[in-house]
Amino acid sequence: MRIAVVGTGYVGLVTGTCFADSGNTVTCLDIDVAKVARLKNAEIPIYEPGLEELVGRNAAAGRLLFTTDTAAAIRGAEVVFLAVGTPPAADGAADLSALWQVIDSIAPYLESDAVVVTKSTVPVGTCASIEQRLLQQTGKGCRVASNPEFLKEGAAIEDFQKPDRVVVGVRSAEVADTLRNLYAPFLRTENPFLVMSPESSEMTKYVANALLSTKISFINEVANLCERIDADIDDVRRGIGHDSRIGFAFLFPGAGYGGSCFPKDVQALAAMARDKGVVPRVLMAVHETNQAQKQVLGAKITAHFSGALAGRKIAIWGLAFKPRTDDIRDAPALDLIEHLLAGGAQVTVYDPEAMANVRAIYADRIGYADGPMAALDDAECLAIVTEWGDFRRPDFDAMARRMQSPTIFDGRNLYAPVDMRARGFIYHSIGKTPVTPLEDFSQPTAGHRRS
Ligand SMILES: NC(=O)c1ccc[n+]([C@@H]2O[C@H](COP(=O)([O-])OP(=O)(O)OC[C@H]3O[C@@H](n4cnc5c(N)ncnc54)[C@H](O)[C@@H]3O)[C@@H](O)[C@H]2O)c1
Repeated sequence: MRIAVVGTGYVGLVTGTCFADSGNTVTCLDIDVAKVARLKNAEIPIYEPGLEELVGRNAAAGRLLFTTDTAAAIRGAEVVFLAVGTPPAADGAADLSALWQVIDSIAPYLESDAVVVTKSTVPVGTCASIEQRLLQQTGKGCRVASNPEFLKEGAAIEDFQKPDRVVVGVRSAEVADTLRNLYAPFLRTENPFLVMSPESSEMTKYVANALLSTKISFINEVANLCERIDADIDDVRRGIGHDSRIGFAFLFPGAGYGGSCFPKDVQALAAMARDKGVVPRVLMAVHETNQAQKQVLGAKITAHFSGALAGRKIAIWGLAFKPRTDDIRDAPALDLIEHLLAGGAQVTVYDPEAMANVRAIYADRIGYADGPMAALDDAECLAIVTEWGDFRRPDFDAMARRMQSPTIFDGRNLYAPVDMRARGFIYHSIGKTPVTPLEDFSQPTAGHRRS
């Protein structure tokens, strides 16, 4: 099949590459000239495990092409996927300006029987609006479908090639069959291909992200309470997770969710609700709880230094909004950096993949270490914001030697408080009583009592 993918970001590049890998001829179109030039040279503009190899292999086979030429990409394409960004506008609603720009630019070149498919996350009713706009532009009806993407950055290829389910929103069985054929190689394990209306399909994407965000905000709120009543969130999590009605997924407390999807999709769904006269009480609480959670690490650090951050040397491990990506959009680490800089702290950061993106924002306002240990030199405390595998089993003795004070604020609960106390650390995590080193037994804390 001949396919065009418009927008070669995290979603478009993975989508185009995986469809090429299953034997289709795919042309990826983007307006970013520099990005397309890099892709033509087999340089991958984002970090996504496995993507470089897959792009290289399919480009070399001539099945994966990159262009800024709209006509070249769209003419002859049987299916055109739209994967441009849909960021939040000032009122939280999705900003569809890039999408409309694409529709207007591709309309003159669309084949009469082409299927236009929205992979971008778009408000309910967008497929219908695209149908109308294309009718106005081309004077003839055009087939438009919704096919939301559920991939996770960091595991995007695996998610695309082995999806839990594929959801398509269509108005005809013929379009459903076209998309079913396209996805057949990825559904050989009998995971479902779900056919519904474009409206239900568009809604499905928002509801999935909103529910996952709700679980995170819920467990974060409960974790904050646990800290104040000497309960341990991990014990509570285990206590509830074994209930088959509840389970364990997305019930890990932390420093708040980030990324380009959850924050914007919760707000966009809330904006849709308000627009239709439904008060989005749960959604607004989820968003507000998350905004507050992103401040929790900063508040703990400030309290530790009795409100005086000026001149404090503070290290941060983890900048990407989650491991295995370089994406820092809405990342909690940025909130922490802002908070620390506002207080006059000296911040040194380390992340395995996201350093360049953070440097583009902060330049020389913060320090950049070339490894996790180097970030700790002379640090008065360390904040951990992203749970990269590299941070899970560090050499604690070496850490303590490098730091001015062996103090950790762990926003991802990577270590056992009882171990950290035995190793001589002051250790703050989320949803647990902080611990101070074993030698401090003269001044017992609630954490000491527990063991
Ligand atoms: N990132 C994710 O994990 C993820 C997962 C599921 C769904 N989504 C959704 O997919 C969509 C894309 O997200 P993303 O993270 O890939 O975005 P992105 O910002 O990484 O990529 C968007 C790309 O579109 C290009 N673009 C913008 N305007 C264009 C135009 N007029 N013509 C051609 N190209 C244009 C940009 O240059 C950029 O390369 C969003 O709606 C998002 O909500 C994202």
